[in-house]
Amino acid sequence: MKIIIVKDQQQGGKKALEVFQAALNQGAEVFGLATGSTPETTYTEIVKSDLDFSQKISLNLDEYVGLKADNPQSYRAYMQQHLFNFKQFKRSYLPQGDAADSQAEIQRYNDLLAQYPVDLQLLGIGKNGHIGFNEPGSSFTEQTRKVKLTPSTVAANARFFASKEDVPQYAYSMGIGSIMRAKSILLEAFGVTKADAVAAMVEGPVTPDCPASILQQHPDVTVILDQAAASKL
Ligand code: GLP
Repeated sequence: MKIIIVKDQQQGGKKALEVFQAALNQGAEVFGLATGSTPETTYTEIVKSDLDFSQKISLNLDEYVGLKADNPQSYRAYMQQHLFNFKQFKRSYLPQGDAADSQAEIQRYNDLLAQYPVDLQLLGIGKNGHIGFNEPGSSFTEQTRKVKLTPSTVAANARFFASKEDVPQYAYSMGIGSIMRAKSILLEAFGVTKADAVAAMVEGPVTPDCPASILQQHPDVTVILDQAAASKL
């Protein structure tokens, strides 16, 4: 793992832009994208930049089950608001939260991942070490699936909803097996609330108790941290 420590999330976004630029220079065609507060400055920097994704493909990590694409809390809406309204890709895919047939939706997404192997996957990390919505205990080999969110993740994401009761209990998420197939991975973490998860990911044993710890076994991972998130290393 290549660890880069920056002053704050703003600087982290600038560093992340450099990683996207380098990937484009090396011919990357497919970008795996993430949501949450962590990548916001990265998307701001991409929007401000002259990087051209108009011939590129994007595939997001996850989406809440049950939310329509135009629901303001959906990850589709997040991506529109933070990136796609300003920087267009040739095609941008997310799991469809309100798909009528879950199994068909999971198959569709796995077929897309097979058709478009990810060159650079952007990740955040949950306080419990989750990546995408792969909670502790998730298998390291699974592909896209429907997952039940842990109470801690529901609580952490409640800030985006009117109440905790409104937070969906399930999500579609690329599995850890899908994430590990990306050619390169960029994980960002900012703030002291991520320090324990970051320490477990970087220095702890490789164990499903900390899903992100499997990244120790990936050959090309860059981790961008602010000083607070790096404080327990
Ligand atoms: C969410 C998302 C993850 C994200 C994580 C951290 O549950 N599914 O993709 O990395 O939680 O979120 P945040 O960046 O808001 O701290």
